[in-house]
Amino acid sequence: MKAPQVTRTVPALRRIVDAYRRRGDTIALVPTMGALHRGHLALIRIARKRARRVVVSIFVNPTQFAPNEDFASYPRRFTADLAALEAEKIDVVWAPSAAVMYPEGFATRIEPAGAAQAGLEDKFRPHFFGGVATVVCKLFTQAAPDFALFGEKDYQQLRVITQMAKDLDLPVKIVGVPTVREKDGLALSSRNAYLSAEERAAAPVLYRVLKASAARIKQGDAVELVLDDGRNEIIRTGFALDYLEARHALTLEPIASRDEVPIRLLVAAKIGKTRLIDNVAV
Ligand code: PAF
Repeated sequence: MKAPQVTRTVPALRRIVDAYRRRGDTIALVPTMGALHRGHLALIRIARKRARRVVVSIFVNPTQFAPNEDFASYPRRFTADLAALEAEKIDVVWAPSAAVMYPEGFATRIEPAGAAQAGLEDKFRPHFFGGVATVVCKLFTQAAPDFALFGEKDYQQLRVITQMAKDLDLPVKIVGVPTVREKDGLALSSRNAYLSAEERAAAPVLYRVLKASAARIKQGDAVELVLDDGRNEIIRTGFALDYLEARHALTLEPIASRDEVPIRLLVAAKIGKTRLIDNVAV
């Protein structure tokens, strides 16, 4: 097996990417914060089908975490990640340090609007989408991909990045990839590692409620009634609920009726110290 090239500076990455381009090879980028799981591997496998070359970035981006969040404790498993990426036969691992990504004097930040101000994740993590948009835009200019793959699990993030690429005329196609789940429905996430056994047993309630709510809305039940039932079930299971909402799937704007299709149901809730998010289509 050929180990992927690990690059840590922008000029080194550029040299590799420029050489691919000269040969006419297409490039797919899979941006990650590491601690890779089967969800990331699904992105990588689709990336391999889309493009001749696959670049995976591993960068725990400090600017998308608030001071009270889990930046310091976020799982970092570079050696295990590298082994997984070697097995997936990817070409390049782009692993810059924070000083390479944000050198002394760095002073620019992208502040997305639209879906980034939908009152969902942005309400609870106001710093988040500015940090994500800025780093993702940099990753795009650094790796110059034809395609970039993002999981639907972070649905609002996917919408924000899709809009950003469109608004800034970035020459990259954003590809959303369906959420990969455990057998009991829990969406895979690097943060699932924080769950105690008891919390892990409770966690699938989020997906159960999303699925049941989507089915009831499809059958014609009133959206607010369905959501209230879902909210109560999640709270009864021991979660502190941030939101369970039905939104227009593209704009993420609130919907006045179930006829405003396509609809996406989105949830975020905290159990113990762990905050989980999930979503489904109606
Ligand atoms: O979804 C993630 O892992 C991160 O938000 C991303 C897109 C890699 C940006 O840091």
